[in-house]
Amino acid sequence: MKTIEQFRVVLRNVGLIDPESIDEYIAHDGYSALEKVISEMSPEDVVEEVKRSELRGRGGAGFPTGRKWEFTAKADSDQKYIICNADEGEPGTFKDRGIMEGDPHSILEGMLIAGYATGANKGYIYIRGEYALSIKRLQKAIDDAKEYGLLGENILGSGFSFDVEIRKGAGSYNCGEETALMESIEGKRGEPRKKPPYPPTYGLWGKPTVINNVETLANIPPIIVNGADWFKDIGVEGSRGTKVFNLMGDINWKGVVEIPFGTPLSDIVMSMGKGVKDGKKLKAVVLGGVSGSLITPEELNTPVDFNSLARIEAGPGSGSIVVLDETRCIVDVARDIAYFFRHESCGKCTPCRVGTDEMYRIIDRISKGEGKERDIDTLENLGKSMMLTAFCGLGQTAPNVILQSLKKFRDEWLSHIREKRCPVDVCKVS
Ligand SMILES: Cc1cc2nc3c(=O)[nH]c(=O)nc-3n(C[C@H](O)[C@H](O)[C@H](O)COP(=O)(O)O)c2cc1C
Repeated sequence: MKTIEQFRVVLRNVGLIDPESIDEYIAHDGYSALEKVISEMSPEDVVEEVKRSELRGRGGAGFPTGRKWEFTAKADSDQKYIICNADEGEPGTFKDRGIMEGDPHSILEGMLIAGYATGANKGYIYIRGEYALSIKRLQKAIDDAKEYGLLGENILGSGFSFDVEIRKGAGSYNCGEETALMESIEGKRGEPRKKPPYPPTYGLWGKPTVINNVETLANIPPIIVNGADWFKDIGVEGSRGTKVFNLMGDINWKGVVEIPFGTPLSDIVMSMGKGVKDGKKLKAVVLGGVSGSLITPEELNTPVDFNSLARIEAGPGSGSIVVLDETRCIVDVARDIAYFFRHESCGKCTPCRVGTDEMYRIIDRISKGEGKERDIDTLENLGKSMMLTAFCGLGQTAPNVILQSLKKFRDEWLSHIREKRCPVDVCKVS
């Protein structure tokens, strides 16, 4: 079997340093990027360097980070904010947790640099409440950085001030959506806002706000220290740098890995993940979360980068790779996913509130052998109209994996409907 090495940019310190020791972080070049921007670069230089690096957001949508920072930097306001999106509510996803537990200072340093570049002096880390160890380590990192004069007033005597606070989420998936997250920090119900206006100009408390994912921010210090050209040499056109993924499901090795963009998915699953558990055959991979995509064994050689994945209607999404072996039933998987979305829909808009409920009811019926052939058409039409009409990303992406399963595993759906039979004996089809 081919052995694939990791390429660690974001995870450079994870497992090497004590994440609770600021001295160890500093001994491994930590806060040298902050020192460099403060002493040698103007805020405009920093924005330009991040733009030149072609870094794209790692929270799912892949928006160019430098452009986002530029919008906020140019916005005229007495107050601006930086938010680190550490909600990580997507089922089967824990790559940000790996970064927060393993190297919390790299995230803080990324936030500080974002603050300097855009003129923000206040940051929030919005983190899911279940992540107790990440919260503890981030809080220790904040306290230690303050003690060292790296956070707070007049950082390193530069005149630049920046402070960071942690806000814990109460377990709503939709609070990972950037505007619902801001509503939540403001103490309101976690429901999405209408966009535009977008957060870089109208964000937290209506002020210009950069919101970035944990992994996006942890990429910033190495980009500043090594330069945009170094970063652009990693990965491929349209997807520069590396990507952190977590592996789970029916796979021999589970955990967090980092690969250069462009690495085939098969290398990640078969080499890093050491293949499907118990020598079973691969049925599919749920890539990028349950709002992501469903990859078949025939598509497994696809390079993992934004453009190659887009060709098969996929993307890196939340950064999770969930392997399903041959004993998994696609209808049962779709039913679980539909159940999740029905539960997490915030109810603000009708297409999502009613659509997720209806999807679940239909799939549940099919899984019990009570489906009709026209249910497949209904699911497809319903899913497509949700994608077009739902108010936010939750309802727009909830049908993704379900619709792909209808296309790619149609026979399995039809067995449940026509023959009242679950081919892998998972569903209780009476
Ligand atoms: C329902 C929903 C949940 C989301 N959850 C997360 C999340 O947990 N973490 C995250 O970084 N982005 C999440 N996002 C994406 C954010 O809205 C936003 O695009 C991201 O924080 C931007 O950061 P980036 O540019 O660094 O990727 C979610 C989006 C939607 C629609």
